[in-house]
Amino acid sequence: MRKTLPGLIALAAVSTLALTACSSDRTDNTAGATNTNTAAAGSELCIPVGATIGVALPQKTSENWVLAEQLFNDGLTAAGFEPIVQFGNSGVTEQQNQIEAMVEQGAAVIVVGAIDGSQLGTQLEAAKASGATVIAYDRLVKNTEAVDAYIAFDNYQVGVLQGTALLQGLAERKGDGPYNIELIAGSSDDANSIPFFEGAMSILQPKIDDGTLTVVSGQTTFEQVATQGWKAENAQKRMDTVLSGFYSGDTAIDGILSPNDTLARAALVAVAQAGKDTPVITGQDSEVESVKSIVAGEQYSTIYKDTRDLVAQTIASIVALQNCDEIPINDTEQYNNGVKVVPAYLLEPKIVTQANAAEVYANDPTLGPLTAG
Ligand code: BGC
Repeated sequence: MRKTLPGLIALAAVSTLALTACSSDRTDNTAGATNTNTAAAGSELCIPVGATIGVALPQKTSENWVLAEQLFNDGLTAAGFEPIVQFGNSGVTEQQNQIEAMVEQGAAVIVVGAIDGSQLGTQLEAAKASGATVIAYDRLVKNTEAVDAYIAFDNYQVGVLQGTALLQGLAERKGDGPYNIELIAGSSDDANSIPFFEGAMSILQPKIDDGTLTVVSGQTTFEQVATQGWKAENAQKRMDTVLSGFYSGDTAIDGILSPNDTLARAALVAVAQAGKDTPVITGQDSEVESVKSIVAGEQYSTIYKDTRDLVAQTIASIVALQNCDEIPINDTEQYNNGVKVVPAYLLEPKIVTQANAAEVYANDPTLGPLTAG
């Protein structure tokens, strides 16, 4: 799942490839065409007009998931489909049951934002056996052949942007180095957490090695810094422990790598409670509270991944299947899920700081236009 710089450049330059999701024996997409329970491999029929589309979302661990629910319901309905959009609020078992039920209800496509990307093999294999197409949405599905495409923002690039922003913020706000920093990663069951972390560490590790950055706690492995369930309270607790254990007296904490906004705000609470000055801290998701904080000069950066674009790309792929066309793909290398390289369509994330927030959010219905802050 690693991406090299040449890989990034190649990605930008690559023309849109395409994934054949319907067989060359194309079938009319009339209302009469339904999934068959006997098809050996999925995606052999072009999906019918008015088809049921199952969208299995994880828990509401950040605002992007909440927004996706409404966008899928509205967008799929407007495109003439019957959406079933559900959150796996109580965890993996609930999400597994929801996917099974979607298959039983004849869903022609299953879109899945996995809670735990490694625990859906059985359900997605059943989906494929029923003839459904499986699209991993935002989070990769691991260790199964039963996934046709992955549609997401470029996760590794998110991490690269976060690592770069942390260095830039330190130089802007904390004078000359060396700098004391801490690292936070996402939940280990989310397939995105490692590419986020590795992308960031591709930028930060050389600066740790040359002494520009000191991780005062010494906690630098993914396992040491992961945040179970992406829960704010877990990040805050770990930061409390790190601060009381390693930052006594007037030891400053200059910077924190945070993988998203929810965890950034939690870490800032811990820092404030420890009586330390605000560190340069990164984030992701452009959550309303964090954007306010950035405009006010507290949180340093976030990432803009416009959920409207991600949902629109996913719905466009489903419409393509209905038209017996191919799911648009622009990456066929990066997302090895353990048993196959999943053809992907990756959107470009944007870094946001106080300097460009007004410009980036100008057309966002929730965030823009920003008032001067
Ligand atoms: C998403 C992030 C989000 C996190 C927690 C990840 O899989 O890509 O945008 O912050 O989940 O909800």
